[in-house]
Amino acid sequence: MFYEPKKKNHGLPKNPFNSLVIPRPIGWISSIDLEGVFNLAPYSFFNAVSYSPPTVMFSAGVGTATDKTKDSARNVENTGEFVCNMATWDTRKEMNQSSATLDSGTDEIALTGLTPIPSSMVSAPRIAEAPVHLECKYLKTVEIPGWNEADVYKLIFGEVIGIHIKDEFITEDGLLDIERMKPIGRLGYNDYTKIDANSVFTLNRPK
Ligand SMILES: Cc1cc2nc3c(=O)[nH]c(=O)nc-3n(C[C@H](O)[C@H](O)[C@H](O)COP(=O)(O)O)c2cc1C
Repeated sequence: MFYEPKKKNHGLPKNPFNSLVIPRPIGWISSIDLEGVFNLAPYSFFNAVSYSPPTVMFSAGVGTATDKTKDSARNVENTGEFVCNMATWDTRKEMNQSSATLDSGTDEIALTGLTPIPSSMVSAPRIAEAPVHLECKYLKTVEIPGWNEADVYKLIFGEVIGIHIKDEFITEDGLLDIERMKPIGRLGYNDYTKIDANSVFTLNRPK
């Protein structure tokens, strides 16, 4: 089949686009607002985009607040800081719960029962239950206009300035034990995948 996204002529019951770029890592973004209220939400339009400096990006769609901005994007733009927590099999339910559309000023960390802990270099909290935290300094926003003229996607870029990895997930050889971390990734629809011992394989790059 072939279809043009703008014509929406895929003929399928659901837009297949989200199922075509998979699996997507989940940036589980914790931030803090100007009043000091914590915020937590998952973003799967998320990735690492450069190595030196390590830089990550998440894309926030239109929000329900009057400024049409999602809380995570607004907080990062206002405070200049955020943390990406690794979402795992063990925290999958809380990750999903933290995506609920709630009023700005609602603390999703408290709502999910997760534990906020201080970061080393930024004011945004970390999620204690996550095995990895990337502490990020806001770099810039790139705006992508939506099809609907009033809508805009905010691509938020941040430099990773501090990284926490729980020691228990570092092997004796000094490698990351991702099979034990069990990170989860986003597929299309409401589906996910998880890394486990059966899903990892190695390919050596050609010289
Ligand atoms: C796994 C998952 C991935 C998501 N990815 C995105 C995304 O990339 N961009 C987006 O705007 N919303 C995404 N959402 C929806 C947001 O998490 C949701 O709108 C949330 O309420 C935003 O919270 P905030 O306003 O506190 O930032 C995702 C939801 C889930 C469950």
